[in-house]
Amino acid sequence: MSKNIVLTGDRPTGKLHLGHYIGSLKNRLKLQDEYSQYIMIADIQALTDNYANPELVKKNVLEVALDYLAVGIDPKKSTIFVQSLVPEIAELTVLFLNLVTLNRLKRNPTVKTEIKQKNFGESIPAGFLVYPVSQAADIMIVKANLVPVGEDQLPMIEQTNEITRSFNRIYKTNLFPEAKALVPKMARLSGIDGLNKMSKSLNNAIYLSDTEDDLLKKVMKMYTDPGHIKVEDPGKIEGNTVFEYLDLFGEDQAKILDLKNNYKQGGLGDVKVKKYLFEELNSYLTPIRARRLELSKDLNYVWDVVKSGTNQVQNIAANTISEVRSAIGINYF
Ligand code: TRP
Repeated sequence: MSKNIVLTGDRPTGKLHLGHYIGSLKNRLKLQDEYSQYIMIADIQALTDNYANPELVKKNVLEVALDYLAVGIDPKKSTIFVQSLVPEIAELTVLFLNLVTLNRLKRNPTVKTEIKQKNFGESIPAGFLVYPVSQAADIMIVKANLVPVGEDQLPMIEQTNEITRSFNRIYKTNLFPEAKALVPKMARLSGIDGLNKMSKSLNNAIYLSDTEDDLLKKVMKMYTDPGHIKVEDPGKIEGNTVFEYLDLFGEDQAKILDLKNNYKQGGLGDVKVKKYLFEELNSYLTPIRARRLELSKDLNYVWDVVKSGTNQVQNIAANTISEVRSAIGINYF
């Protein structure tokens, strides 16, 4: 069996939150021990809807790099790089664009949802509509066959495979492998509002870098069971965000089971469960926060990590593009 090559990435439009952690960071921490893993800071993709706000993107390239290192992405095991510094990705995007129809792009469900959320109206930037093609190029520039992502990204992987199958068929090659998404069982983490997926734009996120104070405030605001008014009322566990988080971040399964039973019977107040969740989340986030603070005192180190990762990918990318040119037959001299 050939070796797995992993590629993933995030748009640098904000700091990373617990939704990122559950959706893919957790898998990346595991994968880095076993495979060659490339983690891309997708600044070009971030610009497709933030083209008028490049400072936001620029600022967050560093923040995302800090989050990666703070959470335990190890630069000796994973290669962190910046998308815009690998222009071969753009080159591959242009060649891939011929292999997908405009109608297919308009049907991509993730892009459709985002177009609604972002209120583009009749003015959808062309770059935004075609970003899944650029994402296919991200993945294929290192010929990755494994992509750890949240479930909202599944249509991107599907579209990637359609494109590379066409490429391999039309140019009679087997240059590009099939890409497989790796989606965790619980890929979708609710925001603290309990109604939506955790996301920066919905203002319902807990960030890896949140202070203890912020964390406490957010946990105390968290959605529970609206029917659980008095302490003695029986409460619901299903759809109760506090218990959703306890299942994911709590260490003591027996204690959680106790709390659930107690809550269902009545006699356990929300504040008490929330305080426990706060303790659990806080003990999880404290070392990450501390590492982030240390790293932020040595930004030269952080940039060196990103620079050396980017250099590595630049070399791989040059090689891939040369193979692509040969496969198409546009390697003139
Ligand atoms: N679209 C991804 C997101 O919004 C980020 C991303 C860009 C990505 N390129 C990628 C993810 C390649 C996996 C593989 O989170």
